[in-house]
Amino acid sequence: KNGLIIAIDGPSGAGKSTITKLLAERLGYIHIDTGAMFRAIALSASRNGVEADDDRGLEELCRSTDVVLKRSNGCCMVLLNGEDVSHAIRTPEISALTSKISARKPVRESLLKLQRRMGEQGGVILEGRDIGTVVFPDAEVKFFLSASAEERGRRRYLELVAKGEQVTLEQTIAAVISRDENDEKREHAPLRCANDAVIIDSTRLSIEEVLESMEKKVRERV
Ligand code: C5P
Repeated sequence: KNGLIIAIDGPSGAGKSTITKLLAERLGYIHIDTGAMFRAIALSASRNGVEADDDRGLEELCRSTDVVLKRSNGCCMVLLNGEDVSHAIRTPEISALTSKISARKPVRESLLKLQRRMGEQGGVILEGRDIGTVVFPDAEVKFFLSASAEERGRRRYLELVAKGEQVTLEQTIAAVISRDENDEKREHAPLRCANDAVIIDSTRLSIEEVLESMEKKVRERV
């Protein structure tokens, strides 16, 4: 192995992507955004008219869909059958659809295999909902990053407004809470904190503070 496997799980808008990207840069690790992979499948389903509860259709879709995470200029690019969909997967509509589609067994099974293959060589940080519990239960370092629902909604809202989306703060908080509920209540690989995860509540912490405490934990393990 070329380094550790680090898992960062937690609810929507807790800052996982921002933190994972920065931590990966500091450690020289590869950042694997598993949420982006589920989003790419949801986009593909939406384009191909596959319904969120059509397991056979989803299985076929996953078989014929190629999802690749690529680094370009320090940024994580998402390729769907070769097309750059990094922006297209981040709309509120695709977020809501991803929440439904990620609960389906064929989608989870297909991406689980892919995620394990991408991470097994080590030197990786995977962010998601079930990394420390299902994808890599033996990951050397696990974090569970959280924050209050209001704060997570507020962060998501600022992100969306900056991109020109027409949303309100109330809508965004409600959407975040609804996605969390779907993730926590689903049958397959629900969002749960692993027993051996380090819990970080980022509600009142700066990005720098979160990063420092994580980096310290990681360095203790190498
Ligand atoms: O992290 P992000 O918000 O981009 O993830 C989008 C959706 O993908 C989540 O709401 C969740 O339903 C799903 N997801 C998942 N398992 C993961 C990562 C994301 O179910 N490991």
